Amino acid sequence: MEYITKLIEKIAYKRGVNFNYYNTDAVISKLRESAPKSFFGRKISDIGCGDGVNTIKIAKVLKAIDVCGYDISMSLVDKAKDRGLKVVVVNRDEKITGDLGVLWGVVHHFADPVEDMVKIVKNFKSFLIREPTDRWRILEAGKRIPEPKMTNMVELVAKKCGKKVVKVLANENQGKSVLYFIG
Ligand SMILES: C[S@@+](CC[C@H](N)C(=O)[O-])C[C@H]1O[C@@H](n2cnc3c(N)ncnc32)[C@H](O)[C@@H]1O
Repeated sequence: MEYITKLIEKIAYKRGVNFNYYNTDAVISKLRESAPKSFFGRKISDIGCGDGVNTIKIAKVLKAIDVCGYDISMSLVDKAKDRGLKVVVVNRDEKITGDLGVLWGVVHHFADPVEDMVKIVKNFKSFLIREPTDRWRILEAGKRIPEPKMTNMVELVAKKCGKKVVKVLANENQGKSVLYFIG
């Protein structure tokens, strides 16, 4: 199953298809009412921005004063650029630093989720991570991480980075997403 989803993902991303078929608007609007106040009005770096659709929505809801997307997929970056987003193509291990980092539906694509998150999160003042938790969301590809495991991993990542998980919003979007605010 993992091999098949990896293959689908590889072909799709190469063709600029983001699999953004699920309605994530409910989760994004949850940010408006439930994100910690300190997460508003920041400079956002969205790592794994894909085609930029969600990046633009997140930045708007959090009233970002600046936003930049980063992705390893050239074709998705092109799509995000077409939407007027400032975007940078990066390598998997490229160091990205900034104010408020975002990993929105990206962690399940990481080979070593804890270490890969640490490498990224440590270079930001604050961080927002959203992961899908419903194993039937097959079109999101990657290797789905069950919520309790994900929560343990994020706690560990925060600790390793000398930060704290300041808020967790679980079971959002009809139980299909979990959001972590790290500060
Ligand atoms: C499921 S998509 C999510 C895209 C976007 N965040 C959204 O919500 O629509 C995962 C994205 O992460 C990107 N990605 C995976 N590993 C990455 C890495 N190490 N650095 C940057 N982008 C990465 C993929 O190319 C893909 O665009």
